[in-house]
Amino acid sequence: MKSVSLDQMFHDQLRDVYYAERKILRALPKMARATQSPELKAAFEKHRTETEGQVERLQQVFELMGKRAQGKTCPAIDGIIEEGEEVMETYKGSPALDAGLIASAQAVEHYEIARYGTLRSWAGVLGMTEAVELLQATLAEETATDEALTSLAESSVNEEAARSAA
Ligand SMILES: [Fe+2]
Ligand SMILES: [Fe+2]
Repeated sequence: MKSVSLDQMFHDQLRDVYYAERKILRALPKMARATQSPELKAAFEKHRTETEGQVERLQQVFELMGKRAQGKTCPAIDGIIEEGEEVMETYKGSPALDAGLIASAQAVEHYEIARYGTLRSWAGVLGMTEAVELLQATLAEETATDEALTSLAESSVNEEAARSAA
């Protein structure tokens, strides 16, 4: 009984993150266009390509479960992305924009890290070895992206934003 409900919850969360990834796929090009930093633009473009692969991995997990790949509206990611759009609008043309874009992007990555960490653990409990590997591969990309964004922020973007405010 216990494993049946975990199985359902896993499927539910999988649909949630599938919806989120496809939404992120559409948000990243907008963020790449909005930034004034070539490094940040490159980081967003690189992660967009990775995200395409992540969507495919999720499709493979659905397939392993014998289910159709189908998303389910996730209000959490809708809110995070909406907030990011607000930042783009409010700080358009401002030197602080890039710092705001990084903050929004990191909120997305942290959401993803939380979801993939859970999904990977549940896949392990459910004995879905192949799914564990697929989810782990994506989790590693999300973590690396988060770290790359931190170093971009710390190496230049935050200081530029602060300098131009002085
Ligand atoms: Fe992702
Ligand atoms: Fe991501």
